[in-house]
Amino acid sequence: MTETGAGGRTSLHGQWSGRLAFILAVTGSAVGLGNIWRFPYIAGENGGGAFVIVYLVCIVIVGLPIMMAEVLIGRRGRRNPVATMRLLGDEEAGAGNWKVVGALGVGTGFLILSFYSVIAGWALAYVFESASNAFAGATRETVEQTFNALASNPLRTGLWHTIFLAATAFVIARGVERGIERAVRLMMPALVLLLLVLLGYSAVEGNFAQGLRFMFEPRFDELTRDGLMEALGHAFFTLSVGMGAVMAYGAYLPRDTSIMKMSVAVVAADTAIALIAALVVFPIVFANGLDPDQGPGLVFVSLPLAFGQMPGGTVIATLLFLLLTFAAWTSAISLMEPATAWIIEKFRLGRAPAAIIMAGITWLISLLTVLSFSTLSGVTFLRGTFFDNIDFLSNSILLPAGGLAIVIFAGWIMARESTSGELDPDAGTAYRIWRFTARYLTPLAIVAVLLRGVGVI
Ligand code: TRP
Repeated sequence: MTETGAGGRTSLHGQWSGRLAFILAVTGSAVGLGNIWRFPYIAGENGGGAFVIVYLVCIVIVGLPIMMAEVLIGRRGRRNPVATMRLLGDEEAGAGNWKVVGALGVGTGFLILSFYSVIAGWALAYVFESASNAFAGATRETVEQTFNALASNPLRTGLWHTIFLAATAFVIARGVERGIERAVRLMMPALVLLLLVLLGYSAVEGNFAQGLRFMFEPRFDELTRDGLMEALGHAFFTLSVGMGAVMAYGAYLPRDTSIMKMSVAVVAADTAIALIAALVVFPIVFANGLDPDQGPGLVFVSLPLAFGQMPGGTVIATLLFLLLTFAAWTSAISLMEPATAWIIEKFRLGRAPAAIIMAGITWLISLLTVLSFSTLSGVTFLRGTFFDNIDFLSNSILLPAGGLAIVIFAGWIMARESTSGELDPDAGTAYRIWRFTARYLTPLAIVAVLLRGVGVI
């Protein structure tokens, strides 16, 4: 295993101990609240069916090629996303201005983390709710009350969210390899196992047929313009692409790892987990007369209902929310890492002060989301509450815009030898498919969705 990037570059922040560590870290970044909290609720809000199909198409023709592009750019540049984009922009096109793509990503990361940490705080709070047996004998009314009591209380939400952000900054401060690798190795298999247990419950006790129909029946007339944009945005969000997080991780990747194979593995795992989560949630929703369209509270209401009814529910609930919190943690770390690496390199700060500054800024922006579910829930403009607007801006606009720039850079600006040098020196069929997709299909798909979103087509 050689330690260097193109031209003998190495990363200041160390390197993954090996290929598996990197796969785990990127999977840890990808699998998180996006799969278990966000996917079911936005699929529910957008009527399932057509939405899920468009999301799957976006994963394959947009998310996957962009993930490969980000890793290859990251590994080639071996710096934080801002510096890497400037360096490669210079090398490939004599245009260091490409750094704005990295800078845009850093900003997007703050926005996403600002609401992400709040929802992760809910998950953390639910660990303790579950452990104190709050869901035993739960009814629709009691689970809804439990959720509302938490979300509408800014002090309680604020407390859990602060703990979560502090924990994220803590891992960031300790450094990439030591912090992230260990966390993911154990948790990911455990999370999948628990989800499968829940899937078994849903299949037996839930309305599984209706859940399946809801998710896969292609009712395209029900897909709105916003739904289309959300499906695209979620493909970015769930894979952690479009803002340089995967690029930052790619900077620590040893040279001998196949970027293509690894990306396919991560994308397949992420998609499978999201589909399983939704297949757990919707049968419970339909069997209990819940509203699939109820928004961000969906998993926090539907899963406790199941836990309340199943034998051993208290233990399973506690474990599941614990694992969900951990999954959110490994994702949050990846949202904070690009900005942290950037200010460390730019201002020569240590990791610890850098992490504290990042967490502080994020914490302030987070207050908007905390208050969106409580004190300011009545304040709506454009898309809805502050949370709705931050979510839409970051996921449906900034991530696709960042992803578009990244894929154009990889497909059009970088020389063929540069990209094939990272992806496949022999430029075989898989490489040619990637390059064609990255040059034509991915940009066209993103532009088409954005144009349709604003009503041009
Ligand atoms: N992918 C994560 C999830 O599904 C969230 C996430 C982590 C993310 N890092 C990211 C989203 C970078 C966008 C960009 O929960």
